[in-house]
Amino acid sequence: MKGSRSQKNVILLLTLLVIFTVDVKCQLTANFYATTCPNLFQVVRKQVQIAAMNEMRMAASLLRLHFHDCFVNGCDGSVLLDGSDSEKFAFPNQNSLRGFDVVDTIKTAVESTCTGVVSCADILAIAARDSVVLSGGPSYRVLLGRRDGMVANQTGANTNLPSPFDPLDIIISKFAAQGLNLTDVVALQGAHTIGLARCAVFNSRLFNFSNSGAPDSTMDTNLVSKLQSLCPVNGDGNKTTALDQNSTDLFDNHYFKNLLNNKGILVSDQELYSSDMANSTTKSLVESYSNNPHLFSSNFMDSMINMGNANPLTGSSGQIRTNCRVVNS
Ligand code: HEM
Ligand SMILES: *[C@@H]1O[C@H](CO)[C@@H](O)[C@H](O)[C@H]1NC(C)=O
Ligand SMILES: *[C@@H]1O[C@H](CO)[C@@H](O)[C@H](O)[C@H]1NC(C)=O
Ligand SMILES: *[C@@H]1O[C@H](CO)[C@@H](O)[C@H](O)[C@H]1NC(C)=O
Ligand SMILES: *[C@@H]1O[C@H](CO)[C@@H](O)[C@H](O)[C@H]1NC(C)=O
Ligand SMILES: *[C@@H]1O[C@H](CO)[C@@H](O)[C@H](O)[C@H]1NC(C)=O
Ligand SMILES: *[C@@H]1O[C@H](CO)[C@@H](O)[C@H](O)[C@H]1NC(C)=O
Repeated sequence: MKGSRSQKNVILLLTLLVIFTVDVKCQLTANFYATTCPNLFQVVRKQVQIAAMNEMRMAASLLRLHFHDCFVNGCDGSVLLDGSDSEKFAFPNQNSLRGFDVVDTIKTAVESTCTGVVSCADILAIAARDSVVLSGGPSYRVLLGRRDGMVANQTGANTNLPSPFDPLDIIISKFAAQGLNLTDVVALQGAHTIGLARCAVFNSRLFNFSNSGAPDSTMDTNLVSKLQSLCPVNGDGNKTTALDQNSTDLFDNHYFKNLLNNKGILVSDQELYSSDMANSTTKSLVESYSNNPHLFSSNFMDSMINMGNANPLTGSSGQIRTNCRVVNS
C-alpha cells in the first residue's frame, strides 16, 4: 500500500517534470529580456510614442503589422523581410501595410542599448501593445522570447490572411488555422476601432454590390451616400476613411456599436453581425461587446496573447535579426 503510493508520487513527479520541461522549451514569458535588455519596454514605448505623435494613425498601422506577421509562419518577423518573395507584395499587404520605417527606427534604438538580443518579432508584439495603450485601449503583459524566421512566405500571406471579401465561414476557418476561436475572431476584429481603410477595399459595396444593381443592403444609407462621394466609380482607390467613423483614433468598443447600426466599413466587419451565419456564431459576441466595453477589453487582451502565441520560433530556432529587413548573413 505504502510502496505503491510513493511509486505513484514518483510517476506523478516525473510526469509533471516532463510537462514542465516541454512547456519551458516552447513557452513565451513576460520577463524574457529582464536581464538581457532591462530597458526594452521603455525604449520601444518611447519610439512608438514619437511615431504616433507624428501621425496618430501609426498606432493602428503597427497593431496591424503584428497581426499580419503572426498569421504567416507564426509571429516570426517574416512580414518585415524585403526581397522579391517579400510578404509586402502579397495581395492583402501591397499598397496597404505601413510602418516599416518606424519598425526600423525602433529596432535601431533597441540595438543601441541591447545589441543582438531582441527579435524583430518581439518588437512587433511590444509595439502593437503600446499602440493599443496609446490609443486609449487596455494594457496587458506581452509574452516574449520569439525568434526571427529565416524566410518570407508570400504564398502563405496570400493564403492565410483573411480578405475583406471573405464570407464569415472562411474568416472563421482562417482564424481556426491559427488556433484562434470565435471569441478571438470577434474580439480581434475590434482592432478596427482604430485606423483607416482605402476605397479599394470597400467600394464594391457602394453602387452595384454583387451585381444587385444597388449598394450593400447591410450598409446604413447615410454611410452609403457619404462613402459614395469619397469613392466615386473610377475614383482614387487609395483614398481613405476611418474603420470606426465614430472615434477614429480612440480604442473603444464603438466598432461594435457601429455594426449594430449597419455602419461597418468592410464586408468582413458587417457580416460579423448581419450575415445569416452570424446568427449562430459571432452575432451575440458583437452584441455583448457593444454594450460591455470591459468585456471587450478583457477578451481583446486575451486574444492578442493567443494570437501572439501562434507557432513561435524559440530556443535556438531561427535567429535574432540585426536588421529587420534582411536575414543575417
Ligand atoms: C477578418 C479579419 C480581418 C480582415 C478581413 C481585415 C481587413 C482589413 C483591411 C482590408 C484593412 C484596410 C487596409 C487598406 O485599406 O489598405 C484593415 C485595416 C486594419 N486592420 Fe484589419 N482585418 C482583419 C482583422 C484584423 C485584426 C485581427 C487586426 C489586429 C488585431 C486588424 C487590425 C487592423 C488595423 C489596426 C487596421 C488599420 C491600419 C491602418 O490604418 O494603417 N485587423 N484590415
Ligand atoms: C508558407 O505558408 C503556407 C501556409 O501556411 C505553409 O503551408 C508553407 O509551408 C509555408 N512555406 C514556407 C516556406 O514556410
Ligand atoms: C475561446 O477560447 C478561450 C480560451 O482561450 C475561451 O475562454 C473561450 O470561451 C473560447 N470561445 C469560444 C467561443 O469557444
Ligand atoms: C451591375 O453589374 C452587372 C454585372 O456587371 C450588370 O449586368 C448590371 O447592369 C449592373 N447594374 C447596374 C445598375 O449598374
Ligand atoms: C495606390 O497607389 C499605388 C502607389 O502608391 C499605386 O501603385 C496603386 O495602383 C494605387 N491603387 C489604387 C487602387 O489606386
Ligand atoms: C459617437 O457616438 C456617440 C454616441 O455613442 C455620439 O454622441 C457622438 O456624436 C458620435 N460621434 C461621432 C463623431 O459620430
Ligand atoms: C438571422 O437573424 C435575422 C434577424 O434576426 C433573420 O432575419 C435571419 O432570417 C436569420 N438567419 C438565419 C439563417 O437564421
